[in-house]
Amino acid sequence: MTDYDLMVSQLRELTDRESNWVADLANASALLFDSMSDLNWAGFYLVDNDHTDKKSGIEAPRQLVLGPFQGKPACIRIDEGKGVCGTCLKTGRVQRIDDVHEFPGHIACDSASNSEIVLPIRRHDGIVGVLDIDSPSYRRFSAEDQEGLVRFVKVLEQNLDLG
Ligand code: SME
Repeated sequence: MTDYDLMVSQLRELTDRESNWVADLANASALLFDSMSDLNWAGFYLVDNDHTDKKSGIEAPRQLVLGPFQGKPACIRIDEGKGVCGTCLKTGRVQRIDDVHEFPGHIACDSASNSEIVLPIRRHDGIVGVLDIDSPSYRRFSAEDQEGLVRFVKVLEQNLDLG
């Protein structure tokens, strides 16, 4: 079981005095990957605000773009509403998925993933990104993990300059 008190206080120490979001999210993903057992991917997708097509001026659907992470190289862009991450962005709700193969439209970046949890990161009432964590085990993420990770994300929401 992950020691969320420890992980959250370590995240505070790492991010309290640093405002650069790349550095903070890079360390946050390293901390998650190092502190939680049985993971194959942990990291961030950020809302791409520049979603207007430069040539036509037509607004494209909102997208997530890959941010700092630990694990294998991953898909770079995810449309709002697509996959587990895009569903989190669209609904604003935590997605805790026991078996990703049963999730309609799941995007398999790493074929080793069998369960996944995705949490929204909010700033000024809007979602600025998501935290995505994958495991090779089914049902890896419990309600307690979700509670701990909500606390982890709160520190990021307070300490990061994400717009
Ligand atoms: N599985 C995710 C895609 C991102 S990777 O897991 C890193 C999804 O369905 O949105």
